[in-house]
Amino acid sequence: MSERTPVIAGNWKMFKTNTEAAAYVAEFLELVVDAGSVEIVLCPPFTCLEAVRRGLDGSRVRVAAQNMHFKAEGAYTGEVSAPMLNEIGVADVILGHSERREFFCENDADLARKVGAALNSGIRPILCVGESDQEREAGGTNVKLRGQLEGGLAGVSAGQLSDMLIAYEPIWAIGTGKTATPEIAEEAISFIRGSLADQFDKVAAARVRILYGGSVNPGNIGALMAAENIDGALVGGASLDAAGFASIVKFG
Ligand code: PGA
Repeated sequence: MSERTPVIAGNWKMFKTNTEAAAYVAEFLELVVDAGSVEIVLCPPFTCLEAVRRGLDGSRVRVAAQNMHFKAEGAYTGEVSAPMLNEIGVADVILGHSERREFFCENDADLARKVGAALNSGIRPILCVGESDQEREAGGTNVKLRGQLEGGLAGVSAGQLSDMLIAYEPIWAIGTGKTATPEIAEEAISFIRGSLADQFDKVAAARVRILYGGSVNPGNIGALMAAENIDGALVGGASLDAAGFASIVKFG
């Protein structure tokens, strides 16, 4: 039995206005009062972060941003920084989601700087890694994963590794309804844990929580969470409905 507390995070992506977010939070909180020992994270767009955080005050639910810049401030139009997120009580930040890598050209070197900036500000990074279907078919999954871990975690110490979360998100499973089977997800996540043991050490690798993401829904969460190395889920589409996401949170 793993000592790692499960984490279920809902990534809203570019969905929900403040009005919609407020209605969601009110409904969701009632539904998860009796959830077991699982960490719950909501990741709304920047515009809703503060209102959602206020709405969750006094609850166990954490709030995460979906991205941030690595600099504390500067002439970077359209960006927000770790100190800005910190001041409004944002606890976590998703970094390197495949949509950021693909549509906004984020690379591992940028991500290493973002991970470091988040850790230095006391914000917990959730670093996403994952292969495309072409990479998987060509037998390149492990090389891709190892490269993203070595690049994105270049400035992290073994002691800091457990202050962050890793999310394995195969690109072919994101938003496609094509969930990785528990066997495929477990194989990749146990490879990630082994790779982290090489990069850091065995103790740090055994402690860090690694989530699976890609078409998680109320019907498949139980089987995924039963796998030995899967410590939680990063949920996109199925997190947009409060009742559906609450039932994922209560997978046990
Ligand atoms: P999905 O997205 O659950 O809609 O597949 C997952 C993610 O992008 O984190």
